[in-house]
Amino acid sequence: MTHRTKVEDLREKLRRHEHLYYVLDRPEITDAEYDELLRELRALEETYPEFASPDSPTQRVGGKPREGFVKVLHSAPMLSLDNALNEEELRAFDRRVQDLLGGAPYQYVAELKLDGLSLAVQFHDGAFARAITRGDGMVGEDVTENARTIRSIPLLVKSRPSDWEVRGEVVMNSKGFEKLNTGREDQGLPRFANPRNAAAGSLRVLEPAITATRPLEYFTYLFLVNGAAAFESHWESLEALSAMGFKVNPNRAVCSGLDALLEFCRTWEASRDALPYEIDGVVAKVDSLAQQQALGWTAKAPRWAIAFKYPARQAETVVEAIGVQVGRTGALTPVAHLKPVTVSGVKVSRATLHNEDEIERLGVQIGDTILIERSGDVIPKVVKVLKQGEDRRPFEMPKRCPVCQGDIVREPGEAASRCINTNCPARLKESVLHFAARPVMNIDGMGESLVDQLVDRGLVKSVADIYGLTDEALIALERMGKKSAERITKNIEASKRQPLPRVLNGLGIPFVGERTAVILADTFGSLDEIAAAVMEKLQQAEEVGPKVAHSIRRFFDEPRNRELVERLREAGLTFTHRKKVRHAGPLEGLAFVLTGTLPVWSREEAKETIEAAGGKVTGSVSKKTSYVVAGADAGSKLDKAVALEVPVIDEATLREMLNAKLGE
Ligand code: IVH
Repeated sequence: MTHRTKVEDLREKLRRHEHLYYVLDRPEITDAEYDELLRELRALEETYPEFASPDSPTQRVGGKPREGFVKVLHSAPMLSLDNALNEEELRAFDRRVQDLLGGAPYQYVAELKLDGLSLAVQFHDGAFARAITRGDGMVGEDVTENARTIRSIPLLVKSRPSDWEVRGEVVMNSKGFEKLNTGREDQGLPRFANPRNAAAGSLRVLEPAITATRPLEYFTYLFLVNGAAAFESHWESLEALSAMGFKVNPNRAVCSGLDALLEFCRTWEASRDALPYEIDGVVAKVDSLAQQQALGWTAKAPRWAIAFKYPARQAETVVEAIGVQVGRTGALTPVAHLKPVTVSGVKVSRATLHNEDEIERLGVQIGDTILIERSGDVIPKVVKVLKQGEDRRPFEMPKRCPVCQGDIVREPGEAASRCINTNCPARLKESVLHFAARPVMNIDGMGESLVDQLVDRGLVKSVADIYGLTDEALIALERMGKKSAERITKNIEASKRQPLPRVLNGLGIPFVGERTAVILADTFGSLDEIAAAVMEKLQQAEEVGPKVAHSIRRFFDEPRNRELVERLREAGLTFTHRKKVRHAGPLEGLAFVLTGTLPVWSREEAKETIEAAGGKVTGSVSKKTSYVVAGADAGSKLDKAVALEVPVIDEATLREMLNAKLGE
């Protein structure tokens, strides 16, 4: 095989597997096998640059960061749809279609109305050429480089030469959305309000490498040649799109009348929560293209299609009271107690109000009628006040902790008021649960009901008491057999071997989570060094600013916490951190900076892997940095990398580098 045919052969294979994985959700090879093929292709393309091609599967994340987006005119306006908000309006639409078609038989194609953002993607000679957001319908933004990273958009479509265009919806599925938000919370970044905003934000970031890490999917629903539909029926065009390798939503049907259409709408409304992505209704389109043309368009929307909108998962209710919940760090979270109301099948009686600032923003008081919203399986949130109650009363943050009567303090510049009594039972329970959690000390079996009993019976007054628990003490508790008790004490014993970053995280120092704990352990090498470090010294650690340093200092200055530390030391927990001995490996001599949330590896895993391969991981970007590995929501480090022209890679590329170098 010549090198050229080898390159083409590999591209062909990779395209096929991309399609199987991202479009059909039916992979035939493992990720590692896929990466291996990609690595092979990349190596060949590097050796023979004359074979380079922008539609090669290696070119998904080639684009450079941009200053902004260029505005471009759509090939044909991207109109919106008229809405039918209930059955009556859908009937009216159907009557109008019937009238305008003068009694000729017709059919509808019913599709789900995906709740994302619409995107036009243009192909030139079968190759992915340009992607444009809807914008105002006439002019959109060119987001080509970002869209190129969406793996369900094929870069090359063999069967179709010349110029044509597809239109469809970019969505983020609910799982990917939750994962992205959890990662953002861990990094102290604001959550995205819903998957649609997350998808829109992800497509409009200026750095394609970031879009590449976001779990975006593209479902197509229109195929246009010279701005017009190109098949005799809409159904046919959907089938063609699917055959061309695009993702077309499988939940569609031909409905030969209003009744069948209504049935489709009802079925999917009931199954809405079971779908892996959000929908906000059903779109019905007259199937025949000739009939579509006969029906035509208004200035705003086609007369041959309608969006049957599902009611938002919102409901009206009354705030009966506002209570507070005490979290692990003592933070008091105001919670609205609501007159129970059903929101799309789920009974809701509470909604979080986050903090005092949020209450102020909403202007909500006890007695008010409010609008709440549930999206996916997320805790309901308060959207706005609909009507002020007659005897409304403002919420007041309690002066004393509702659980332990301890002092409440709100530090300047902080959103949360906190109970500062570290022995507060509410805090204690949360602290113990956090300490025992899987990513922390991983004490399997120490769940909520056990912790409640341990704290309520006074067996655990501090996290350190966990290490004094015996089989006998546990057996005496409710629902606890000998076997379970033994299993738990065994797990407690095993947790003593957890490394220092986990112990540090387990202490529950405000602002010191998984990531900061690793940095602190890496920088200082032992708990005692950290506990003794002054503010300035603490801030020498990467990503530790005055706020975090102050929090650490304050924690270790508190006699009660020092006592806790001593007791944990006596129990035999790991207080030192072995600096990893660097040895020659495939990444020898390379310095990496990690930023953002990687799709697969935790930061620690990535760091360990790089170091095990001989590379160095540093905290800040400089001219000496070889690569910046960027994940979701990378921040200032990414900007710096761009400014210093340090190459930015994603996690997959890092893995390829490890494999490639190992394979040499
Ligand atoms: S067809 C002229 N089909 O809904 C036809 N739109 O409210 C235009 N949408 O802008 C669109 N799922 O972003 C169509 N299966 C689907 C859709 C869909 C979601 C969005 C699309 C459009 C908006 C109109």
